[in-house]
Parts: sequence; C-alpha cells; structure tokens
Amino acid sequence: MSEQAEAFLNIVANRRSMRAFKPDPVPRAVIEAVMGGAQQAPSNCNTQPWFVHVVTGDMLEQLRATLPTQFAAGEMALDFPYDGQYDGVYKERQYASATALYDALGISRDEKAARNNWFMRNFTFFDAPAVAFFTLPSQFGLREACDLGMYAQTVMLGLVAHGLGSCPQTSLGFMANVIRPALGLGDHEKLMFGLSFGYPTETPVNQVQTERAALHDVVTFHE
Ligand SMILES: Cc1cc2nc3c(=O)[nH]c(=O)nc-3n(C[C@H](O)[C@H](O)[C@H](O)COP(=O)(O)O)c2cc1C
Repeated sequence: MSEQAEAFLNIVANRRSMRAFKPDPVPRAVIEAVMGGAQQAPSNCNTQPWFVHVVTGDMLEQLRATLPTQFAAGEMALDFPYDGQYDGVYKERQYASATALYDALGISRDEKAARNNWFMRNFTFFDAPAVAFFTLPSQFGLREACDLGMYAQTVMLGLVAHGLGSCPQTSLGFMANVIRPALGLGDHEKLMFGLSFGYPTETPVNQVQTERAALHDVVTFHE
C-alpha cells in the first residue's frame, strides 16, 4: 500500500466520536484550515449547498447554559423530520453502539437517570470548546443533504488530521428552533446537526470502538 493510502486510512480509522474534551481553545487558523480543506467536498452540480456556523467563546457558553433547560422544558423543534425506524439489523447496530458507549461510561441498562443525564450532555456539547452547526439552504432536501453529509465527513477527517476530535450530534438538531434564532439565522437555512469539537481527552468514553459490518455485507460486485 502506498504511503499516501496508508496515511488516508489512518485518518479514517482514527476518526471516532469523541465525547470528552480538554478546555483548550482551537485556534481560529486551524478551524479555517479544516473548513477550507472541506470546501473540496463534492456536491451535485458543484452547488455546494452547505453552510457552517462555528460557535465558540461567550456565544457558546450562552448556549451551553440555556440549551439543557430549554430541552427539558420541551422547547424542541426540528428543521428535518426524525422519522426513521430502526428495526432488524439496524436496531441491533443501534443497540450495540449504545451498549459500547454505556459500558465505557460504567452505566448499566437499568440506570435510566444516569443514561438521561448522559444524554443531556449533548446539550452542553460534551464540554467542547467549539461547536459547528451544519445547515442546508431551506429550499433543499434529501439530495443536497447528501452533499452536506459529504462536507461534514470531510470536516471530521480534517479535524483528525489536525489532532482534533469531534462528535456529530443530531440531538443538537432537535433544538433548531432555539439555535437558529440564537445565531441570528433566518428561515432561509435549516439546521441539520451540530458537531462538538476540540482536543479530545484520553478518558474511556473516547476509546469506544463501534463495530462495522463486513465488507461483503455491504459491497456487491456485479460483473
Ligand atoms: C449524523 C449523526 C448524528 C449523530 N448524533 C449523535 C448524537 O446526537 N449524540 C451522540 O452522542 N452521538 C451521535 N452520533 C454519533 C454516532 O453514535 C456514532 O457516529 C456511531 O455510533 C459510530 O461511532 P463512531 O463515530 O465512534 O465511529 C451521530 C452520528 C452521526 C453521523
């Protein structure tokens, strides 16, 4: 395997969801290098239908202070429906990833309060010093959402290349009605998800390894 291929696979393999961060701020130049690099992501007809809102500093602390209470008060509205049903193998994978996470946290299945407290940490961005919110121009749907996903994955890999870690969070999309106005966004952008990021700590929660299906369960060769 070439050095280049090895370096690429290394970055891909080293990306996993990080949910504990050092308080150290991420330099603006690094964030710009990552987001700038991700601009090379492909998109339908090169439309580049993505926006990113990077939040740090006072604005982040304000959201961190208010989001958990607002979520608990039921002030939740998504810009995109959350209507997928997981059953069969998808349910099994969801279950396995949750088990891996809660095992690392030392929280058992019946500790509902502890599980809920952990879930609420989504809204304090797992103590990350930065969060990126990914939005789609509101006239767009499924096809462009794929473009946004490709962009976001490129951002996540770029973060790894710079020694950073991140956690993509649909849960932050649950609070679109609160986050959009807080950032001064109008109705022309729809919030898909957020990405907490920063320098990861070496705690067990950041060592969680999730399984992947075997290659031949996914790839079919037609000749
Ligand atoms: C679009 C998207 C949304 C996600 N939302 C959340 C979330 O709200 N909270 C969370 O802790 N993890 C979330 N995750 C992380 C997944 O649980 C994680 O990617 C999956 O279990 C595979 O683990 P890995 O990222 O460590 O490889 C999300 C991942 C993606 C791609």
